[in-house]
Amino acid sequence: MTISSTTMDQALPRHVGIIMDGNGRWAERQGKPRVWGHKKGVDAVRRAVSFCRRLNIPSLTLFAFSSENWRRPEDEVSSLMELFMFVLQKEIKLLHKNQVRLKIIGDLSRFSTKLQIKIAEAESLTAGNTGLTLNVAANYGGRWDIAQAAQQLARQVAAGTLQADDIDEKLLASHIQMHDQPELDLMIRTGGDIRISNFLLWQAAYAELLFIDTLWPDFDDQVFADAIASFVSRERRFGCTGAQIRELAAATVQG
Ligand code: IPE
Ligand code: IPE
Ligand code: MG
Repeated sequence: MTISSTTMDQALPRHVGIIMDGNGRWAERQGKPRVWGHKKGVDAVRRAVSFCRRLNIPSLTLFAFSSENWRRPEDEVSSLMELFMFVLQKEIKLLHKNQVRLKIIGDLSRFSTKLQIKIAEAESLTAGNTGLTLNVAANYGGRWDIAQAAQQLARQVAAGTLQADDIDEKLLASHIQMHDQPELDLMIRTGGDIRISNFLLWQAAYAELLFIDTLWPDFDDQVFADAIASFVSRERRFGCTGAQIRELAAATVQG
């Protein structure tokens, strides 16, 4: 793994989100069933988690199953659910040992009770870990996320504890998933498609976007390192001019 020091113009991302796409095509290219690609994708998840631990990246969010993925053939959906359950059971001890805090984000009410219980157990086991927060987005949709935040605020208004006029961006943001974690800095999509597919819509407002052709099962340390190198070489302006940003950076270096 090499990240050239000449590209280290800015700090490493503190929160990386990944749309792990391309499992099905990866398998189909080898004449195997799509589920084979999902299974191989788990190895890539393990690598990505370990990479973030080594680089001390505080938050990693992985898109595992979108609110639209229920539209897939029934056997693929049930294979994915089984795999999710299996991986959760198999990996949780190792994640815990490695100081990983696991969070599942999404509308969990559609999952089986058995899976919901496993999720709650895994989250509570790892709740105190401080090494890396691994958010797995399952039955997640960016629109759902914004809608559930709006619903929480609407309830407060209905209960008389909040005035509608007091609702602003900051308040809404504090009800969006992962509001207690660093802002999303980098969003990567593997698999060659250039779209967000209802992933982190609110959180992506100022994230750097990176679309790469690598299919998810082939995502390894070198590909991740290249993605990080691309991130650190970019100038993030947040509405300012480039000159303002460079001035600010110079002042920070001088202390
Ligand atoms: C991403 O890979 C994993 C899930 C959506 C669960 P895909 O299954 O979408 O793979 P492709 O895009 O069909 O190759
Ligand atoms: C996005 O991939 C969802 C996940 C990676 C979990 P999809 O493969 O479902 O996205 P579309 O359907 O091509 O937009
Ligand atoms: Mg896909």
